[in-house]
Amino acid sequence: MIDKINQYLEQIKSFESTDQEEIEQFRIKYLGRKGLLNKLFAEFKDVPKEDKPEVGKKINELKHEARNKIEKLSKQSKSAGKENKIDLTAPARPYEAGSRHPISLTRKEIIEIFNRVGFTISEGPEMEDDWHVFTALNFPEEHPARDMQDTFFIQRSPDVVLRTHTSSVQVRVMKDSQPPIRTISPGRVFRNEAISARAHCIFHQVEGLYIDENISFSDLKQILMYFAKEMFGEDTKIRFRPSYFPFTEPSAEMDISCTLCGGKGCNVCKYTGFLEILGCGMVDPNVLKNSDIDSSKYSGYAFGMGIERIAQLKYNVNDLRLYFENDVRFLDQFKAKF
Ligand code: PHE
Repeated sequence: MIDKINQYLEQIKSFESTDQEEIEQFRIKYLGRKGLLNKLFAEFKDVPKEDKPEVGKKINELKHEARNKIEKLSKQSKSAGKENKIDLTAPARPYEAGSRHPISLTRKEIIEIFNRVGFTISEGPEMEDDWHVFTALNFPEEHPARDMQDTFFIQRSPDVVLRTHTSSVQVRVMKDSQPPIRTISPGRVFRNEAISARAHCIFHQVEGLYIDENISFSDLKQILMYFAKEMFGEDTKIRFRPSYFPFTEPSAEMDISCTLCGGKGCNVCKYTGFLEILGCGMVDPNVLKNSDIDSSKYSGYAFGMGIERIAQLKYNVNDLRLYFENDVRFLDQFKAKF
């Protein structure tokens, strides 16, 4: 009987197949109700008592061997089946490419325009102390911008705030280096305003600063005219209106001819022909002094714009909230831009 079992063992060990039907036949042959194993168990009764332990062990070994083999082969045949199902001639699934956010596109374009004429990029912290955001920039103690209404305070005395403009970065640059300074600072800014189509508590700015000897308002006008034409087209006209900022004197706000009607008057420019895009001015000597720059030798200009505002004019998006909702139906429209 042992010889017979050994013979079966050999057969089981050498059996190979990936065909499910063949494997099933093999299972029935050994493990089926009328299979060889059950036959062996039936014959076991007649085995002499002293041989029982050895023969019993052998039969069990055979059973395990058969089970393991079947399990292994059927696993292999299943995965082999899958491989066969791959259709190499099928067309590829369409691949959804992402798109850049309109704010990133506009930011990149503004940066490139100023890079071309020698402005470097400087960045700084979004969480700032009061000195860099207000005091160094000549904000009087009682200035409304310092008020809780506008500023998000992180901590009181000493005051730590979320920066309300990226002019704070320029203070850092002026503190750390000496003129000539020619830099732009793009970044996120925060103001405590109710969210609506026209205002948001988070937005993005690019502020520019140029400090050297003999810098005048005409240099400022020139650079902003260059910017407006590069950004909105060769025919763009610019206009300055007197304004006030604590850190610049004189100060102005700049308008460009309406991007929609070209200055004829339409409902986008409210029939004025012009659209406001940025604030600017000559750096107040107090600001230079606060940053240890000799104001008798050096002068400079500064300007600051909101990226959302520029993007709004560039892409005709008139609800600021769309920039923050990340609705793919909105974002998809910027796919082809680069
Ligand atoms: N910092 C100003 C703002 O956030 C913009 C500005 C910058 C105005 C530089 C004049 C000069 O509104």
